[in-house]
Amino acid sequence: MSFDLVLFGGTGDLAWRKLMPALFQAFRHGTLPAGGRIVGVGRDDLSAEQYRALIRSRFDGVDLAKRPGDGEFERFAALLDFVRMDLSKPEDYAKLVDALAQRHADTVVMYVATAPALFTTVCEQLAAAGLNTANTRIVLEKPLGHDLASNRAINATVRQVFGEKQVFRIDHYLGKPAVQNLFALRFGNALFEPLWRREHIANIQITIAEDIGVEKRGAFYETTGALRDMVQNHALQLLCAIGMEPPINSHADAIRDEKLKVLRSLAPWTAETLKQDVIRGQYAAGNIGATAVSAYRAEPGVQPQSQTETFVALRTEIANWRWAGVPFYIRTGKRLAGRDARIVVNFRPTPHAIFNSNIGVANRLVINLQPKDGLELHLLAQGQDNRRNSNTLAPVQLDLDFDKRFGAERVGAYERLLLDVIDGRLNLFVRSDEQEEAWRWVEPILEHWKNDPQGPRPYAAGTWGPSASSAMIARDGFCWSEES
Ligand code: BG6
Repeated sequence: MSFDLVLFGGTGDLAWRKLMPALFQAFRHGTLPAGGRIVGVGRDDLSAEQYRALIRSRFDGVDLAKRPGDGEFERFAALLDFVRMDLSKPEDYAKLVDALAQRHADTVVMYVATAPALFTTVCEQLAAAGLNTANTRIVLEKPLGHDLASNRAINATVRQVFGEKQVFRIDHYLGKPAVQNLFALRFGNALFEPLWRREHIANIQITIAEDIGVEKRGAFYETTGALRDMVQNHALQLLCAIGMEPPINSHADAIRDEKLKVLRSLAPWTAETLKQDVIRGQYAAGNIGATAVSAYRAEPGVQPQSQTETFVALRTEIANWRWAGVPFYIRTGKRLAGRDARIVVNFRPTPHAIFNSNIGVANRLVINLQPKDGLELHLLAQGQDNRRNSNTLAPVQLDLDFDKRFGAERVGAYERLLLDVIDGRLNLFVRSDEQEEAWRWVEPILEHWKNDPQGPRPYAAGTWGPSASSAMIARDGFCWSEES
């Protein structure tokens, strides 16, 4: 099956950091279908040859294992082409028409990895140029809009140009092997299902912590912030994967219907919960390991008085029969104590204690997403010293390390998702109604912040965020997993 993959934003940050390495890995793994062509599109004045050289330089500094071997990059580079276009100029789309007419690929993928402000223009111009044919798929990167209204406007334009089955809205967290494993854990095994409910679960904590700052994306981040960048999409998708009912089958819409129900069941915000259950923070100067790092406000592209949040912690509930009353905590931020994404499921304690069991973590399932990928089951067991005190238990941990089990060289999120687009598999992509529901839910928080003079609370880089985040969870009598 031949394909043309057109990469709008072909010289941009995402193509550079994620998409080209992912395409190269797929090529190297032999999974990229033969007969493909990758057409970078950008404003730079580059020939195809210069574009290949630019992409080649991407791999200069990477680990030896990921660096192309002899002749390997040249074989990959033979797939690369470049079209110089200003996406805001209708006349430039004729160049793309010409490039695509050189051959008639079975599938054409339009990957819009540009600033979201260009999404509607690109869709309209593709239609005007007759490039929205039935064999075309469009991939839209997050964030899709900056609030519900702009998201709806983008979706409305996309809908006029493409059928829903042609639209691939990316949330790369859904492509992570660990998230695949979460679906496998829940729907491939019956073991946890009877326990996966309010009667047995005390609380669930979703943490996506990063130790990096905003790097070179200060200007983008200023208008985005952690709520739009991470919570509206990645964190809510994880919450759906944890909270959804078993789908009737593994088809895309069966899965997406169930995720949508979770989003619709999220407890509506009230004046009180907005005040108490959502904490925003912004990193101040601090240390990441032994390295001193500067404050968010000192980052390039960031306003010295910026009120943009780089940290969010919140508490919510899924108001349905399975989950009523169980707090779900979400926490994400930049310049935190480590790169660590995990979901912690805290089961309820025993109803009656016959052992002295107040001695450590137990009754807990940890789903590690990154950098480790695996499961930890925390239990209590009888310790070594059982002659002296037969009633003393010790915390133990069952560790299932998926990197060890399946090898660390697993298919990365973007690699997997790009192959899914080329093959037309929609399971791991987000439907427009899911996205709108997620925006509907975060919007009251954005509104509240607009009118809240307090602004984000500062936290030192290298910590777990403002202390208000711990105070929020402590009100329920719980603590974040690293505090126990
Ligand atoms: C992106 C955000 O969607 O996800 C970035 O825009 C963030 O700000 C990134 O750094 C995190 O992705 P990952 O795969 O490194 O956890």
